[in-house]
Amino acid sequence: YQSISPLSKQFLWGAATAAYQCEGAKLEDGKGLSIVDLNINPKFADTSVTTDHYHRYKEDVALMKELGLKAYRFSIAWPRIFPNGDGIINQKGLDFYRNLIDELVKNGIEPLVTLYHFDLPKALQDKYQGWSSRQVIDDFFHFSKTVIDEFSDSVTHWFTINEQSNMFALPYLLVFDENDTRSIEEQKYQMNHYMTVAHAKVVEYCRTQYPSHKIGPAIGLSPYYAASALPEDVLATQVCADFKTYFFMDLYFKGEYKANIWKYILEQGYNLDILEEDLALMKSAKPNLLGINYYQSTMVRACPETEVAQDVAIDENGAKQAIFETAPGRYQVIQNPNLNTTPWGWEIDPIGLRILLNDIYARYPVPIIITENGIGGQESLDENNTVDDSYRIEYLSEHLDALTQSVNDGVDVVGYCPWSFMDLLSTSSGFNKRYGFVYVNRTDKELLDLARYKKKSFYWYQSLIQSATK
Ligand code: BG6
Repeated sequence: YQSISPLSKQFLWGAATAAYQCEGAKLEDGKGLSIVDLNINPKFADTSVTTDHYHRYKEDVALMKELGLKAYRFSIAWPRIFPNGDGIINQKGLDFYRNLIDELVKNGIEPLVTLYHFDLPKALQDKYQGWSSRQVIDDFFHFSKTVIDEFSDSVTHWFTINEQSNMFALPYLLVFDENDTRSIEEQKYQMNHYMTVAHAKVVEYCRTQYPSHKIGPAIGLSPYYAASALPEDVLATQVCADFKTYFFMDLYFKGEYKANIWKYILEQGYNLDILEEDLALMKSAKPNLLGINYYQSTMVRACPETEVAQDVAIDENGAKQAIFETAPGRYQVIQNPNLNTTPWGWEIDPIGLRILLNDIYARYPVPIIITENGIGGQESLDENNTVDDSYRIEYLSEHLDALTQSVNDGVDVVGYCPWSFMDLLSTSSGFNKRYGFVYVNRTDKELLDLARYKKKSFYWYQSLIQSATK
């Protein structure tokens, strides 16, 4: 890749989704259940139908073509390929993705494939506690190898794991063993280690077998701002960024544990299963692509040892509360009074994207695709069968400006995939929070006819892609 400023003609103008949020067909054609099928907030729609993309993918790809997409990021559901997580391949599952990929390629749209988007086969959770067991490394590798070998003729861009850092932070994206005598925190570090090794094994395989392909993690990132110029706040902000960003980035791109995190693990007395050969593999597996999911920035202040610990506070509608997360003796995440927020309390910060990209690329200089960026809102069709989502146009165009400035600053951003191509099941808020360029006619409670309608942002993005690529 070579960045040309402003964005190059080859820039991957895309959009994103994930399997469990749009496919539906939860148990159809041999698919097995995943942990996310069970973990979605039961207050909202379940994953049985979602947007029915499994049956309507041709119509959806036609809309992508009309939108002018050059790339489409989606995920492959592990339990659709291996209903039991391991063992026999479900041919019908492979067929679905073969058909989808062929349809994309036929329409000139580059498939960008995520291998893991929160949907561990439930069978593996039942069998050996999923990510808590070393066996998951081989099973994830086997699934990924199967998929990569199968589709390597048409897919050249791969993302291993989506938002490992968020799975670490948000308890509902993983399942913990109630009978495990270790604390949740210790279990998380262990799962995180196995996930890292599983990622590394797949990266190593792909880079060796398919040297022209691009592969890397897709990680949810945020820039961290100190609440004041007090040195204590600035230091706390550094520590927070270490735990939430650089810990994961170093595991992926340097193949090592950051010294201060390692010290923390030792101080806590965690007894983790980490082998020399894991560390050797992590060192040698070098991703050559980085996916970044960006929604918001984060403000931080120092937090005294004496402060009572508080979990990430999410209200019943999935919105953040004013006090977010406290790590006594380290940091506290607080609301930034300088920024507007979405109705869910997520800070809207386009400049934050430029700050983030510049910082990350300076430390880890690999080509970047923005794999998610977008704004959710409560929406319904108006009398013209459309949605005036001007607020989304404003959000996306400001973030694209920031991205372009960042490319001008020298950062190698090669693609942009707003979240999401169409409305889908929001992980935290169901269909009450819509992100798409395309409206899908259903609510959490009522399936309705699931018809697709183009929102105002659809036409905006279409004309932007047209003018950028002509
Ligand atoms: C990312 C996930 O965390 O954010 C997506 O990769 C998710 O799966 C998106 O949907 C937006 O979050 P939410 O909770 O608003 O759907």
